[in-house]
Amino acid sequence: MAKSFNILLLPGDGIGPEVMAEVRRVARWLAAQGIARFEMEEAPVGGASIDADGVPVSDATLELAKAADAVLLGAVGGPKWAEVDYAIRPEAGLLRLRKELELFANLRPAQCFPALVGASSLKPDLVAGLDILFVRELVGGVYFGEPRGIETLEDGTRRGVNTQVYTTAEIRRVAALAFELARQRSGRVCSAEKSNVMESGLLWREEVTALHAEGYRDVELSHMLADNCAMQLVRAPKQFDVILTDNLFGDLLSDEAAMLTGSLGMLPSASLGAEVDGHRAALYEPIHGSAPDIAGRGIANPIAAILSFAMALRYSFGLDGAADMIESAVAQVLDGGLRTADIMADGMAKVSTDVMGEAIVGALAKRAA
Ligand code: IPM
Ligand code: MG
Repeated sequence: MAKSFNILLLPGDGIGPEVMAEVRRVARWLAAQGIARFEMEEAPVGGASIDADGVPVSDATLELAKAADAVLLGAVGGPKWAEVDYAIRPEAGLLRLRKELELFANLRPAQCFPALVGASSLKPDLVAGLDILFVRELVGGVYFGEPRGIETLEDGTRRGVNTQVYTTAEIRRVAALAFELARQRSGRVCSAEKSNVMESGLLWREEVTALHAEGYRDVELSHMLADNCAMQLVRAPKQFDVILTDNLFGDLLSDEAAMLTGSLGMLPSASLGAEVDGHRAALYEPIHGSAPDIAGRGIANPIAAILSFAMALRYSFGLDGAADMIESAVAQVLDGGLRTADIMADGMAKVSTDVMGEAIVGALAKRAA
């Protein structure tokens, strides 16, 4: 009998629920094929959770997330919640999930589908065949460092503080994963920091170098200052295989790299915790946001969410074959000329969210037949 996996769906806000509906469609198809069974539970997160429970993620949802084999998240945030207290803004729900599940490694592939080479803002020959994997530290650094806050000084002016801080253990656990993932790819890791300005960056460089010498000499390691990395990403992006970096630089650089591929609507991500007793906490989400401007119109691109589900199949469920099938089905549908509005180009057929989802399932079915 097919193995059964327990998935927590957190559709969230804006286009989140719309793209998540297409993930359900793909999951239903896999289940119907007998490839796996999925027990799906749903809970609110972000603005939807603020509306329902007064907080961007409830304790009950956190418990469900901890118990799940994998969490799939849509998107959080939107103008409706612009005025809520900073501590309970929609994004705080996502940050709390990452922190409490200790999802220390954020994997963000930036791959350019052949059919979309022309959609990139860079020249086609710079991005054709692009395949970068960002490994971004996700639960440390300036996002979570203490002290933090805004204080009023004696003269009545104010002071805002955040702290960039990393420890040996925090650096090494994410670096180890980057080296291991590089072994399954082209075997190269480029570590990006600002060791020329920040002690935390210097420590980062030293610890990554030491870990490499201790156990990963077969992987090629290079270091780059993060500002140079930003420049190299638009100058010659194909020089990179795995880019290892901290929370804040990873946020910036992965958005930059995402745009090289043509659309934010295409890119998935995985956030992984440590493996404990054979169980690894994991949350999968598209890189794009909630896109409130197009929410509710049925035109959002569901591909990033569907590819995030494929990452769950690969990294949480050990169903690499099914993940490969989904990735090829997406490529095939794009080759066939279907486009959602965000990646529309001359001569292509513009389709809605659900037609794109149906087409991907159609391509899966054809491959399976
Ligand atoms: C991301 C997002 C988040 C981040 C926001 C929504 C808190 O930009 O996942 O990259 O800054 O990490
Ligand atoms: Mg970001």
